[in-house]
Amino acid sequence: MIGIIGAMEVEVEQLLGNMQETGSKAVSGVCFHEGTMAGVQCVVAQCGIGKVAAAVCTQTMILLYHPQVILCEGVAGGIGKDVHIGDLVVATSLVQHDMDSSALGDPVGFISALQKVQMPVPSQTVALIADCAQDVYEGHVCKGVIATGDQFIANNDKLHQLAADFGAVACEMEGGSIAQVCCMAGVDYAVLRSISDNGDNDAAVDFPTFAAESAHKNTALLLAVLPKLVQQLEKTK
Ligand code: ADE
Repeated sequence: MIGIIGAMEVEVEQLLGNMQETGSKAVSGVCFHEGTMAGVQCVVAQCGIGKVAAAVCTQTMILLYHPQVILCEGVAGGIGKDVHIGDLVVATSLVQHDMDSSALGDPVGFISALQKVQMPVPSQTVALIADCAQDVYEGHVCKGVIATGDQFIANNDKLHQLAADFGAVACEMEGGSIAQVCCMAGVDYAVLRSISDNGDNDAAVDFPTFAAESAHKNTALLLAVLPKLVQQLEKTK
């Protein structure tokens, strides 16, 4: 069983249209859609925006379905001159940029429950998604750190901060929360994001303009990734 989580309707609607749904469960305000996609047993949920909503959804999904891997997908703000609207970012690791106990001497982003800042994604999962994307994704494919926080980033100074603090290439509002819950539960995870804006002073205009178009680009990619991911999981059992 593979779990897939997107935050907004626009990030899950096309996926659900490609799912052969066999049932659903509503728990804690989240609907979990059960079925198959590209022949793979899946559960798909729209978690809502932000870290708490994502954590509730992830933990509930783990307890209800025991997925082998949870994929977080959707849109993100691109960071840096090499990441453009319409590009894909596959996370090599996740950080929570708004976790800050630096006044107590910790590094910015330090997650006490895990005793670390960076939550890495297994390199073979990153490679599998990026390789699939080279074949089916219409746009540049980039791998790197994704920074998560309860903030829509629309500010050049903040962007530079995220790049300086974490080497981040994209910012969003759920991936680092899903990663933390998965790390705590011992479940594998990966995060893939289409770029809808550049997190800069134009982001509030670009995001509503490009979110749907960018989000929908993930559908073909996920349909290609799912069977290969299952094969990879079978091999590493
Ligand atoms: N998701 C898409 N664009 C974003 C941005 N600029 N900040 C946070 N989350 C986003």
